Formats: sequence, C-alpha cells, structure tokens
Amino acid sequence: MNAVPNITLNDGNAIPQLGFGVFQIEPRDTAKAVSEALEVGYRHIDTAEMYGNEKEVGEAIQASGLDRDDVFVTSKLNNGSHEPHDAREAFDTTLSELGFDHVDLFLIHWPLPTLYDGDFVSTWRTLEEFHRDGRATSIGVSNWQIEHLERLAAETDIVPAVNQIEVHPYLTNNAVREYGREHQIATEAWSPIAQGKVLDDPTITQIAYKVGETPAQVVLRWHIQRGDIVFPKSVTPSRMKENFELFDFEIEPADMDAITALDRGEDGRTGPNPDTFAYIPG
Ligand SMILES: NC(=O)c1ccc[n+]([C@@H]2O[C@H](COP(=O)([O-])OP(=O)(O)OC[C@H]3O[C@@H](n4cnc5c(N)ncnc54)[C@H](OP(=O)(O)O)[C@@H]3O)[C@@H](O)[C@H]2O)c1
Repeated sequence: MNAVPNITLNDGNAIPQLGFGVFQIEPRDTAKAVSEALEVGYRHIDTAEMYGNEKEVGEAIQASGLDRDDVFVTSKLNNGSHEPHDAREAFDTTLSELGFDHVDLFLIHWPLPTLYDGDFVSTWRTLEEFHRDGRATSIGVSNWQIEHLERLAAETDIVPAVNQIEVHPYLTNNAVREYGREHQIATEAWSPIAQGKVLDDPTITQIAYKVGETPAQVVLRWHIQRGDIVFPKSVTPSRMKENFELFDFEIEPADMDAITALDRGEDGRTGPNPDTFAYIPG
C-alpha cells in the first residue's frame, strides 16, 4: 500500500506527507529523475531557485500528463533576493521557469539574520503578497530558528504554513519542531536520511533487520510517525521506489524512542547553522 497521507496546513491547503527532493540533481538530469519519481507515484516535488533546476521540474510535470493540481510543487526564494523588490522579481522568475501560474508552497530559503540588517520581516511581508494574490497557495519558511519565528509572530499577519529544517536521527531538532507544533507550523524535515550518513548506524540497521525493511525505510518511517513531512532525494529509480514504500509497516514505540535517542544535537548537524549562514550565491 502506497497511499501517501495528506497533512492539512494552517491555511487549509493539503500537502502530501511524502515527496521527492531535487537538491543536487544536475539540471540535465532533473527532468528524467522527476519523471521517474512521478511514475513511482510521488505527487509532491521540492525544488528551489538555488538548485538551478526549476525549469526541468516544470517540464517533467507538464510532460507527465498529470493535472497540475495533482502535483504539489514547492520552491524557495534565493538568498540574494530578500529585498522586497528583488523578491517580487525572483518570484516572477520562479513561476516562469516552472511554467506555472502558481506554486503550492513558496518558502524563504534561509533567514540570513546577519544580512539585510537582520530584516527578514519585510521579506516575509512580500511573501504575504504572493499568498494574497493567489500565486503562492501556501507560504512558509526554511531554516528558521525559534527566535526568527517569534519575531514573525510579533510583527506580521500570516503564520508560516511550514518550517523546512534539517531533521534526521543525528539532529532531531525537537525544540524547533515543538515550537512549530504549538503554533500550527508544520515541520518539513530536510536531509531526512542525512544524505545516507545515518544508514549504517547499528541501532537503525538492527531495527531494519527486525522489521524486514531497509535502513532508509526505517528512518523515513520514523519521520512519518513523528508527523513531519519528508522528501528524500534520489536519482536511483530502485531507491525512489524503496523510499516510497513506507505505509505497510510500523515502528513500535520503543524503537521510535531508540532512534530519537541517537540525537547528537549541534554535533549532528550536517548543513549550515541558520544563525550564522550568510551565503549569497554568485
Ligand atoms: N531547505 C533547505 O535548506 C534544504 C537543504 C537540504 C535539502 N533540502 C531538501 O531536502 C531534500 C532531501 O535532502 P537531501 O537531498 O539533502 O538528502 P537526503 O534525501 O537525506 O539524502 C539523499 C542522498 O541519499 C542517497 N539515497 C537516497 N535514498 C537512498 C536509499 N534508499 N538508500 C541509500 N541511499 C539513498 C541519495 O543517493 P542517489 O541520489 O545517488 O540515489 C543521495 O545521495 C532535498 O532534495 C531538498 O529538496 C532542503
């Protein structure tokens, strides 16, 4: 059974809990990978301007013959475009690259609190415009820490629908997830298998052996049972299928706890720290 559940966001929009991520897929390989993922059954694609492959994502969806409404598409505002005027231009470009009149979800990719005089609030207000004019069905943030979310709550009108953050067994990120749960902000877990780094962990391989699934399936199922949204990336069709088969088994509570206990806090972080990340692509 591969029925992917939907999660209802705080604005009423429904998002498939399992999707397909396209970070680090070369533009020339992206249309093929997305076509294969759609063939497997994925109906949620996570891209970003920074990934350089929005055009190929749009081409694959259009070539699939699926209705646009049957595929949930997320993209993200790039780090160099936080000024409102630049954000409006960048969003127009995202839509024209994808070849769509709307995205299902548009995120601010990074908060960049050390850039733009620390002003991510006016960037968020610009995303509110895209939501109000209907071109972004939902809007959200990515890599936001609790203090960034608190500032938006104090100074803006719309609560982000999602916060897309690094989460996997070595960085459970539970404080940020908990803030999200309390404020109706869904957590999207990026690098859900830590780009493969957690798959050899003995706790995970033992649980995988016990339940008769692969380590990747166990880790992805752990995220699903925690209620987070995931979109593992793979250019390998057999792995795309493997990562999609998460709904015919369960991890028992003691094993859920054992995986959560693998948390290494900040030492487990594989990507940049959102408090200090200040990269503007050239
Ligand atoms: N918002 C952000 O700042 C941010 C940052 C990072 C990622 N993301 C999003 O999250 C998505 C997923 O994260 P990610 O791409 O960093 O990492 P990931 O999904 O945790 O891992 C992808 C890596 O694991 C391998 N892999 C996939 N399935 C596997 C399996 N079943 N068994 C063994 N290896 C497997 C892939 O190899 P092959 O491709 O060679 O098969 C690839 O090298 C991204 O694509 C992107 O959409 C967002």
